[in-house]
Amino acid sequence: MIKINIFTVALLISAFSTLNAATYKGQKVYIDSCKDCHGGGQAMAGGKNTRTWEKIMDKKGEQLASIHLNSKKAQPSWEYFQDKKFTKDAKHLEDFLTEYSRDSGNVPACN
Ligand code: HEC
Repeated sequence: MIKINIFTVALLISAFSTLNAATYKGQKVYIDSCKDCHGGGQAMAGGKNTRTWEKIMDKKGEQLASIHLNSKKAQPSWEYFQDKKFTKDAKHLEDFLTEYSRDSGNVPACN
């Protein structure tokens, strides 16, 4: 009985850390690739609802890429949005943005 409980606890802990790892990766992508132009990531994430982010990040971030590729002001980001690296990052980014979206109930810390 005790063994089962320990096992359950271990399973829960590993489930939680997997979830956090996904969000954390997305946050890192944001800091590396978006923060210079857009500032704090949680503020950016909280600016839209989950559904809106899911749409923007659909098909490996197709919409997000085209927003930037159609804007002359965003030119320094073109290389990144055209690169394979972005399509790889897109899923992590979506995890992060939806985790802290306006209707997620996750209030960002004051930092
Ligand atoms: C070189 C600077 C630059 C980088 C890097 C950049 N952006 Fe942008 N972004 C812009 C500009 C400029 C616009 C405004 C485009 C327009 O409307 O003309 C924009 C627009 C957006 C919009 C739409 C604005 C809105 O409120 O609907 C989102 C969302 C966005 N960026 C997210 C991101 C994310 C996420 C990243 C990182 C993967 C990123 N941006 C990287 C410059 C940048």
